[in-house]
Amino acid sequence: MDGSQVNRYRYLQAQRISGSLGAEITGVDLSRPVDDAVLAEIRAALLDHLVIFFRDQDMTPATLLAFARRFGEIHRHPFIAGMPDYPEVLELAKKPGDKRNFGGDWHTDQMFAPEPALGTMLWAKQVPEAGGDTMFANQYLAYEALSDGMKRMIAGVRGVCVGDKKKGGVSRMANNAATLGSVKTVEPPKDVQTTTAHPLVRTHPETGRKSLYIGGHVHWLEDMTEEESQPLIQYLHQHSYQPAFTCRFRWRKGSLAFWDNRCTQHFAINDYPAETRVMHRVTIRGDRPF
Ligand code: OGA
Ligand code: MN
Repeated sequence: MDGSQVNRYRYLQAQRISGSLGAEITGVDLSRPVDDAVLAEIRAALLDHLVIFFRDQDMTPATLLAFARRFGEIHRHPFIAGMPDYPEVLELAKKPGDKRNFGGDWHTDQMFAPEPALGTMLWAKQVPEAGGDTMFANQYLAYEALSDGMKRMIAGVRGVCVGDKKKGGVSRMANNAATLGSVKTVEPPKDVQTTTAHPLVRTHPETGRKSLYIGGHVHWLEDMTEEESQPLIQYLHQHSYQPAFTCRFRWRKGSLAFWDNRCTQHFAINDYPAETRVMHRVTIRGDRPF
């Protein structure tokens, strides 16, 4: 990617926000049905920039859902309750008094699912005066920065992702219910699988590029003990979000972010203890990582 990307598109403009990933897109109104030609450019911009941002979008749960559906089926989150009239849309609120925030660790979405989310759309309904930014990290770069020896060693290794990992004997649901405050948690449906092994190095089905796939849901490596696995998992995880691989997005009311979970991680910064932040979120179904 270089500066010439700015004029690569016919119907929209892209302005990169860091050297590693992320671009602000202008020239599109997402509250109205988007033409196929414009949609194709949005899809291209997502592949080019990994996460794209739109400002001042006047969305409702219905228009957000309609836009998301243009990219595929919706992936329902098994642990979080949807909005009463729009079960596929999550309202993620953090209010004064809530200790923990949703997404407050480096991760990629619903990685515990056999077919994790392709992408996530997040729209800002209410934001703090300052704070509540989201960081993203380019996992193509994280993979490419590894030594040849490390790349050889982790080729073919799979990480076991656990959606409901107990912490100190307390289930994730119970822990979530106790700490996430305003975010409503639910028991996953019995037929939904929330533990899966995925390759540590995955190939993007559209770009063909390899990326590191090591979100916070990876708890051990397949066929190894947790003790054996932890040092490598910890090394790869802290390697994956070093500053040179990241961008940081400052939200405004009406901003919409759309990220590709297949080649990025993200982190929601919890730095607004006395303020309220409310987001609407939809995830798009992905395919099985390979
Ligand atoms: C998410 C998430 C980040 C944020 O919606 O998957 O991690 O900044 N949110 O709210
Ligand atoms: Mn997330």
